Amino acid sequence: MMKDNTLGIILAGGTGSRLYPLSSIGSKHFLPIYDKPMIFYPISVLMLAGIKDFVIVTQKENILIYKKILKNFKKCGITIKFKIQDKALGIAHGLKIGSSGTKKNIALILGDNIFFGHGFNLILKKLMEFNSDGQIIVNSVKSPENYGVLVCNKKGIPKKIIEKPKKYIGSDAVVGLYFYKNSTLKYLNSIKPSKRNELEITDFNNILLQKKLVSYERLGRGFAWLDTGSPTRLLEASNFVEILEKRQGFKVACLEEIALSQGFITRKQFNKVVGEMPNSEYKNYLKNLTIN
Ligand code: DAU
Repeated sequence: MMKDNTLGIILAGGTGSRLYPLSSIGSKHFLPIYDKPMIFYPISVLMLAGIKDFVIVTQKENILIYKKILKNFKKCGITIKFKIQDKALGIAHGLKIGSSGTKKNIALILGDNIFFGHGFNLILKKLMEFNSDGQIIVNSVKSPENYGVLVCNKKGIPKKIIEKPKKYIGSDAVVGLYFYKNSTLKYLNSIKPSKRNELEITDFNNILLQKKLVSYERLGRGFAWLDTGSPTRLLEASNFVEILEKRQGFKVACLEEIALSQGFITRKQFNKVVGEMPNSEYKNYLKNLTIN
């Protein structure tokens, strides 16, 4: 496992234009997904992968608010740094900014992607072994025209990703979670802005695919991958998390809980963090938590 050699990058820039006027508050990743800010969900995924070292890429004016929202997590055994992407010049552009100066491998997650499913930790564990230079994940969707779509040859070898295909070419959407060995990052310099003037993550992945450096994992049926880019999808994600939490009695993406269960902090440190929280349902949940 290469946990300590992996930097988690969370992309939380972008314009959030499809969420206007909700996005007028600043970063759309501040918005609630049921009982917590959206940004908790992608952070939780990378923490579950065992990552403790994070960079959040966002606009300058958002940083102060992020620091408030994420205040507790300094005491949860993780470090979060911020890097600035003032214009939404693309996911690969955000990756370039987030990864500059690091020698670590990268786990990149889009700030508006939510994952939930049994056995996810096993998939994450496998991905963290970095058996390929680039690793992508696909999930079958009903509306592939909204995503990057992976096309494979008859033998199942990945050939190419088409970004938001107008015609149907398959339903395997590439989800917003990518793993790259540090050695691949040099190819970020080979991509040019697309028609929408963005450095596309799909173009970067296609370079790696051409060089046969990419493998992919599939999230099976019964796995929930949601992106929260539109008002409907935002509400659906909240409803989904509410149903799960009420039914099971467990919280999704509760970062303090994950820090404890991953052994990032001791029970004593955890109790201190929880003790300092305002009285709330969230605090009660954590107070009553039993983890062996
Ligand atoms: O959700 C998965 C899809 O994400 C992939 O299937 C596509 O291949 C990929 O291009 C991307 O598609 P979107 O067009 O939906 O990406 P969007 O512009 O909505 O941005 C996704 C997240 O990345 C969002 O949380 C904001 C952040 N972002 C985006 C851009 C363009 C940045 O932080 N900086 C940026 O410059």
